[in-house]
Amino acid sequence: MSAVLPVLATRLSAAAEAAFGTLYDAELRAATKPEFGHYQSNLALRLGNALGQPPRDIAARLVDALQVDDLCEKPSIAGPGFINLTLLPATLAKAVNEPQSFSSNGLRVVVDYSQPNVAKQMHVGHLRSTVIGDALCNVLEYVGYEVIRQNHVGDWGTQYGMMIEQLLEEGITAESLDLEGLQHLYERSRKHFDADGTFADKSRLRVVKLQSGDPETRASWRHMVDVSMDDFEKVYALLGSKLQRSDVVGESAYNDDLPRVVAELEQQGLLTESEGAMCAFLPGYAGRDGSPLPVIVRKSDGGFGYSATDLAAVRHRVSTLHADRIVYVVDHRQALHFDMIFTLARTAGWLPSTTPAEHVSFGTVLGPTGKPFKTRAGGTVKLAELLNSAVARADSLLEGREGVDREATARAVGIGAVKYADLSSDRGNDYVFDLDRMVAMTGNTGPYLQYAHARLTRLLSKAGTPGEVTDLKDPAEQQLALLLTDFADTVAQVAETLQPHRLCTYLYDVASALSTFYEQCPVLSSEGATRASRIALCTATRKVLQDGLSLLGIQAPDAM
Ligand code: ARG
Repeated sequence: MSAVLPVLATRLSAAAEAAFGTLYDAELRAATKPEFGHYQSNLALRLGNALGQPPRDIAARLVDALQVDDLCEKPSIAGPGFINLTLLPATLAKAVNEPQSFSSNGLRVVVDYSQPNVAKQMHVGHLRSTVIGDALCNVLEYVGYEVIRQNHVGDWGTQYGMMIEQLLEEGITAESLDLEGLQHLYERSRKHFDADGTFADKSRLRVVKLQSGDPETRASWRHMVDVSMDDFEKVYALLGSKLQRSDVVGESAYNDDLPRVVAELEQQGLLTESEGAMCAFLPGYAGRDGSPLPVIVRKSDGGFGYSATDLAAVRHRVSTLHADRIVYVVDHRQALHFDMIFTLARTAGWLPSTTPAEHVSFGTVLGPTGKPFKTRAGGTVKLAELLNSAVARADSLLEGREGVDREATARAVGIGAVKYADLSSDRGNDYVFDLDRMVAMTGNTGPYLQYAHARLTRLLSKAGTPGEVTDLKDPAEQQLALLLTDFADTVAQVAETLQPHRLCTYLYDVASALSTFYEQCPVLSSEGATRASRIALCTATRKVLQDGLSLLGIQAPDAM
């Protein structure tokens, strides 16, 4: 589908330039009502305001200067001065028939997402990051970016000193523990650390050994990382995430850079010592009580922390990975952290002003009571269990359906439902994890869209070879066709705003327009050119649903 809207917008801007001498944005949008045609612009109202002239007169002059005879019916002026455009049926048909794709934009984007922590279960926050991150990578790739995925796994820090020391004391090896075992080990070592000063000192020494690369210490640590990664990968496989082991560049990867990062900041005079810690105080960042907020790059015990690692990561992404844009998919609680990291990295000259760094922030997943999602005992809900229960729910929906590969479909529908629920609300908002709502076959849900796709597939299997869209007479088919031409533009908007819910809303609109089309326009029982054209329209709709779901990381089974 080629997008007609941008072409018309350019023409309208050109008309404004010809009539009023300045280039204006055409403010062209999809019409709010069918009687307003296909598109409407309120440019004349804007200009009227700016020039102090009646908007209807301005609209008349714009329409005089506007050259769209080849694409539209005669433009009309409505109400206070809206300009309405209606595409010629042939324009619309051509736009639906022409495939639209993007070519490479020559830009490289680094996307930091998923980022679970070693020796801990992945929690629902990591689920969100993984689902949103995967979708954004797909979208960015689609519009022409080269995408580099970075799984910034939390695999470094003082807790590993403590845990390894605890292993030694208990006389067990890291090899004997699974992820759950590691989590318990962490809890035991934490208690021990807090209660016993000698143990705490030994743990600190162990951290130094870990950081300096002592082989035995590193081997234990390595094992903890591997065990955890195996578990994370099970979740990725269930989710159908594209993340690979090779995308893991965890916090530990920056260990050797940290002293240099701090030294450079120091040389630039950006650091101040405060209570034994090395800190950067950035102008404009203050706590609630007005006291300046630090970025702590080296703690009072000499260790480097989360912030130093993120500074090293920014530097690496710009200078080694040659990122033109950097995206961080992390929950909203880290907004200030990233704001300060980006500011400090720009101040230090590591992040050029031409390289956008964006925190793709997201809200909290809530349980049924509206509180953050936890087990009844207050623990982390195991993601694999959660996803499996979604699959089981989907499986029961498929009860009695014929011609359906039950296992594969239940998986596609259950996982798709969870992902779609996550992606379809504005990511900044919290949402309640409600499986019943997620798997519902009606409303703005994954299964509803998957069903629309499967139904189209069944219809098309009876239709014979598709031709082209030629005559679009009925308003319902025009409306559907018009929406289809917006696909590429919608994806481009998601790539720009990093808001996947816009694609969900769009696909839901397409599915809704499709159901109106079914009501108004017989397909298989119509005849001749109309039948051929409607079949082609169904084929184009199926492709949009399929491509759209695939960009969201959701499968579109052929039958369900
Ligand atoms: N591992 C961290 C967490 O679970 C998130 C890391 C986000 N990425 C980053 N570059 N800091 O909270």
